[in-house]
Amino acid sequence: MNTAAEPRIDPLVQAKSLAPLREFIATTTRIVEQDQPEPERVEAVRAALATLIANDTWLPESAAQPHPEHYQQYLLHCDPLERFSVVSFVWGPGQRTPVHDHMVWGLIGMLRGGEIGQSFTKNGVGELVPHGDAATLSPGDIELVSPSTGDIHQVSNVYDDRVSISIHVYGGNIGAVSRHVFDLQSGAIKPFVSGYSSPQMPNIWDVSHIVRERIQKEGA
Ligand SMILES: [Fe+2]
Repeated sequence: MNTAAEPRIDPLVQAKSLAPLREFIATTTRIVEQDQPEPERVEAVRAALATLIANDTWLPESAAQPHPEHYQQYLLHCDPLERFSVVSFVWGPGQRTPVHDHMVWGLIGMLRGGEIGQSFTKNGVGELVPHGDAATLSPGDIELVSPSTGDIHQVSNVYDDRVSISIHVYGGNIGAVSRHVFDLQSGAIKPFVSGYSSPQMPNIWDVSHIVRERIQKEGA
C-alpha cells in the first residue's frame, strides 16, 4: 500500500469514522461465539452486515484502492480463531473473477457501484452450467454463497467506467482457504488460494484520538 500517496485524514475523524467496522467485528464475534448451525449464523451475520453497508463513510482509503489490471481483496479483519474474515473487494472498471468456489459460507454486501453475479451448478453429466439468471447487486444488497446452498459463481463489475466495492464476510480465513477455479470450455478444475492484495491491514484499533478528545473535554 502506498500510504504516501493518500490524502491526509484527520486522525480523530478517521478513528470515529471506523466505529461501524469495529462494531460489526464485535457483533460478528459475539455471533460466532454461539456455535449455532450455519443457516442461523449466516442470517445473524447478514443482519449485522446490512447495518455495516447501510452507510458508505467508514471504509479506509487504503482498502478502497483499485488496481489497473485486476480486482483487489483487502483484509479488514480476521477472527483469531479463523471463524470469520472481513474483506473489501475493489473492482476496477470492467474487472471480473474467473468462475470459482469458496469452500466456506460467504456474504457479499454491496457498498459502492454494482456487481453482477452468475451462479453455476453441475448438470446431469457433471458439466458446469449457469444456474438461474445473473443477479445485479446495488448498494445495500447482500448475496449468499455456501457449499450447502450454491458455492460456484463468477462476479464482475457492472461498470466499465468506474470502481465498485463490496464488503465480504466469510466463514473462515478466506485468503488462506484452498479453493477451485473452473474452466467452462475445457471442464478443467484448478486448485487455488487467493491470498490478500496487501501485506498490511488498516489500523482500525487506534482509538487514542477519541480517548484524548474525551480527556481534554473532561479537563476543560
Ligand atoms: Fe466469490
